[in-house]
Amino acid sequence: MKNIILTGDRPTGKLHIGHYVGSLRRRVELQNSGKFDKIYIMIADAQALTDNFDNPDKVRANITEVALDYLACGIDPNKSTIFVQSHVAELTELTFYYMNLVTLARLERNPTVKTEIKQKGFDSSLPMGFLTYPVSQTADITAFKANTVPVGEDQLPMLEQAREIVRSFNNLYGETLVEPKAVLPENKSCLRLPGTDGMAKMSKSLGNCIYLSDSADEIKRKVMGMYTDPNHIQVSDPGNTSDNPTFIYLDAFATDEHFAKYLPDYACLAEFKAHYERGGLGDMKVKKFLNSVMQETLEPIRLRREEFAKDIPAVWEMLYQGSKSARRVANKTLWQVKRAMKIDYFAEVKKHIKQKKNYDYFSNRK
Ligand code: TRP
Repeated sequence: MKNIILTGDRPTGKLHIGHYVGSLRRRVELQNSGKFDKIYIMIADAQALTDNFDNPDKVRANITEVALDYLACGIDPNKSTIFVQSHVAELTELTFYYMNLVTLARLERNPTVKTEIKQKGFDSSLPMGFLTYPVSQTADITAFKANTVPVGEDQLPMLEQAREIVRSFNNLYGETLVEPKAVLPENKSCLRLPGTDGMAKMSKSLGNCIYLSDSADEIKRKVMGMYTDPNHIQVSDPGNTSDNPTFIYLDAFATDEHFAKYLPDYACLAEFKAHYERGGLGDMKVKKFLNSVMQETLEPIRLRREEFAKDIPAVWEMLYQGSKSARRVANKTLWQVKRAMKIDYFAEVKKHIKQKKNYDYFSNRK
């Protein structure tokens, strides 16, 4: 079996460091590992429209932003196919057939979708498109026969539903689709990076994100203003590192090399944490170090992003070419699906036409 990756993001905003440690960084490693036959990275504009159907301008503008973020992080269009979901019409067609294999009750049980419905205030006016997006996500994954889906933790329920749909399909119509598995970030702090304000999740509406495109000054301002341990008042007070976003960010980003370079008094993060926990280490020092780490990590990304942003038409051309090539692959799978479902009615007719056989069934009739 081939090793194929598919993953993607909704273009509803620029990508932030939560996306970076939760998935982007891993994708680039997997891309460069040489262990995969094919890698597809999808900008999920159709999915973004399921809760932004009244704001297509936002989705359109953010396709450019997300594409720039990908390129800036090191996703290389020569190694990975970057494409736009809505341009691959086969995905919507597959979605329609997969919908027969899922019940309303099952969709309503998806914990991620449930939370989103609450957050978005959809309780009384839930668009069907939104409720069914896990089905369309199954189409995204299966259209490319992906077996590996690198995502954040919140996407696990989607992968579970995808596997169920694949199993139902294969049971009913014969072995056709590939069951995918999720690949999560290696480190617990990367699973879900909290906001700079200590809230559980980074979210644009809360204004608690550090973006990959933030300037050096913005990064510094955000790091210096971060929420820490509210009970750590005096430098001498013992502090808490486990619910403290500054230390969670260090878990996700800091290496021993960073200590050697910026804080040689400590060999590693464990030593630094131990000092904070027993007291005597001030928040200012922690934040200054975190700022150095973040600056060093984000500067090359920001500079690459600025380079790519100088030629936006080239970015769109790359997306166009990627989408065309993704479409060819999805089309093949769609025909396999149709054959399995016995709805490939015209396959024979098309063969006749191709072979220029006479299939003029009507002319001989009187
Ligand atoms: N739901 C994902 C997100 O919120 C985006 C996405 C759409 C996706 N289709 C996918 C991710 C298929 C992985 C596989 O960002």
